[in-house]
Amino acid sequence: MKRISVAQPKLAGNERNYVLDCLDTNWISSNGKYITAFEQKFAEFCGVRHAIAANNGTTALHLALVAMGLQPDDEVIVPTVTYIATANAVRYCFAKPVLVDVCADTMNIDPAAIEAKITPKTRGIIPVHLYGHPADMDAINEIAARHGLWVLEDAAEAHGAEVRGRRVGGLGTCATFSFFGNKIVTTGEGGMITTNDDELAAKLRLFRGQGMDPQRRYWFPVIGYNYRMTNIQAAIGLAQMENVDNALAERERLAGWYNEALAGLEGKIVLPVKKDWAKEVYWMYNIFLREGDGERRDAVMRHLDEQGIETRPVFYPMHVMPPYLEPSTYPVADEWSQRGINLPTHQDLTREDVNRIADSLAAALA
Ligand SMILES: Cc1ncc(COP(=O)(O)O)c(C=O)c1O
Repeated sequence: MKRISVAQPKLAGNERNYVLDCLDTNWISSNGKYITAFEQKFAEFCGVRHAIAANNGTTALHLALVAMGLQPDDEVIVPTVTYIATANAVRYCFAKPVLVDVCADTMNIDPAAIEAKITPKTRGIIPVHLYGHPADMDAINEIAARHGLWVLEDAAEAHGAEVRGRRVGGLGTCATFSFFGNKIVTTGEGGMITTNDDELAAKLRLFRGQGMDPQRRYWFPVIGYNYRMTNIQAAIGLAQMENVDNALAERERLAGWYNEALAGLEGKIVLPVKKDWAKEVYWMYNIFLREGDGERRDAVMRHLDEQGIETRPVFYPMHVMPPYLEPSTYPVADEWSQRGINLPTHQDLTREDVNRIADSLAAALA
């Protein structure tokens, strides 16, 4: 029986050719034509003026926070359900992530819960487009504008998602992406920051390259970082971007197969939501067990694993993790995260695979 992985990259285009070109031409480090081409293509894809490549999505977040001037003891609003890098990047600046509960259906930050957490120390908001579903950016931007805050979209999981017809990446002050091996677009490890702000883009480039003055080599006016992407990573990224429309379409088709195959289980599970203002992309297709069924989640996942199907639990909230532990005032996160399962979501899955997964799930829930 074929084992089904929860995620895997698809490298079916020019990835190999472009990487060999880097090797053949000796351009293997962090200069080279693929960096510029990948940045340009990604900026076009997001509809923004600037894309600045970084060596992963976590350093992209850190770089964005540094470039926006985050200082020790400042506060940043972060959803409690996210991948831990969102909160960690705030801590790297010795600032404080202030947690906010999430919406039940999308697991994204709940705009209605943000304002109660804003204090004189708050500098910005990091909405996360979790699992590929965009956060409600209009509501978030409106709150941010009223309080003079910046907005950093953590779009690590949502390449190509849209809010009212506009792609993520250009909906806040800046945005960050991840290109880890399980993402919709991958470079193995990699990241990107996108923005329409010329001044911020210049700062991002400065801090990415150890702070070296672009006009004066080996002169360092600030303390920067080495967060550069290599030409080899960018070569893979460029090839991935040539196929990104296919990747999004194949994932949408997969979600359609899941919706059909799981329709009969609707009394037992909750399927992904559809919002009329959002175009989600399927980084992960999630299901949630019904209310009160959270305790069964791990047993269901074990059953699937025994059937050769890998799944993952929806992220644990930040407020239950040792570094960010606090008494919960996040009822939606507590209730929903423990019921959520990421089903296998990648482009090599067939309709038969999906039917097999649905059958195993039905047996586990029987
Ligand atoms: C929401 C979110 N933010 C940030 C990151 C960090 O990206 P990376 O793993 O490339 O450092 C991830 C990555 O998986 C993520 O899912």
